[in-house]
Amino acid sequence: MGYAGLSLEGKVALVTGSARGIGAALASGLAEAGADVAVSDIPSNRAGLNEVKKRIEAQRRRSMAYDLNVLDLEQIRSTMGRVTADLGGLDILVNNAGIRRRSPALEVTEEDWDAVIDTNLKGTFFCSQAAAGVMIPQGGGRIVNVASQLAVVAGENRAAYCSSKGGVVSLTQVLALEWLRHGITVNAIGPGPTETPGLLEADTRDADELQADLAVNMPLGRRMSPEELVGAAVYLASPSAAATTGHLLIVDGGWTAR
Ligand code: NAI
Repeated sequence: MGYAGLSLEGKVALVTGSARGIGAALASGLAEAGADVAVSDIPSNRAGLNEVKKRIEAQRRRSMAYDLNVLDLEQIRSTMGRVTADLGGLDILVNNAGIRRRSPALEVTEEDWDAVIDTNLKGTFFCSQAAAGVMIPQGGGRIVNVASQLAVVAGENRAAYCSSKGGVVSLTQVLALEWLRHGITVNAIGPGPTETPGLLEADTRDADELQADLAVNMPLGRRMSPEELVGAAVYLASPSAAATTGHLLIVDGGWTAR
């Protein structure tokens, strides 16, 4: 029998960008901890999303899948309402949807900048705002933002990405301060390099180059798996974390400890 303070039994969670990668692992992990989980992503990832929904149902939890583009404010608001109607409430929001674009600062275009900031930072804010609109009348909830270790240390060629994730941490603190009186805690996790489809698509280095980089920068000596982030997210989403708010929980294989 597990520690009851970490149980999510009877809770309803929504995870953005959960068709694959970290979002899929967190959705399934929250279900393992007892939550019913609404999964959501952009329509082009519907097949992956349906697979995650099936996995959660095989874990004997309820799941619903929604098209949710975090750039679409109308869709954000309507999805919060649909999740609440379909699953009976909304207790946990995980703001995971995010994109990465790498280029030297001198070559970043306005389109790159807007896409990264709008998805990672603006999307996180408006999903949180819409979720709080449901959670406040319910008496509270948990918001877990997926930031990055690159919120607190620089990554070369990632001006927009690092700015977006630093912004997410700052936003986490502001919302934590404003919403604790409503019973909502707002925290963030800061993953280090984690093997996901998005990371692999963006990383064009060969195995030797990668290993040389990990040897210098990553005390763990390897990339993490998405599942290694589940415990942190479950804790922040759990009853145990009622007094933990505005916190960035870095899970980065020692990257920022150097
Ligand atoms: P991924 O690219 O494998 O998965 C991201 C998911 O977000 C995809 O399913 C994608 O369709 C979805 N998404 C993208 N734009 C969206 C939008 N506008 N609306 C809704 N969904 C959208 O990426 P990964 O690696 O799983 O990343 C997930 C989160 O973790 C991101 O916020 C990323 O910045 C963060 N992160 C990832 C790290 C890594 O090393 N993989 C390290 C630190 C943070």
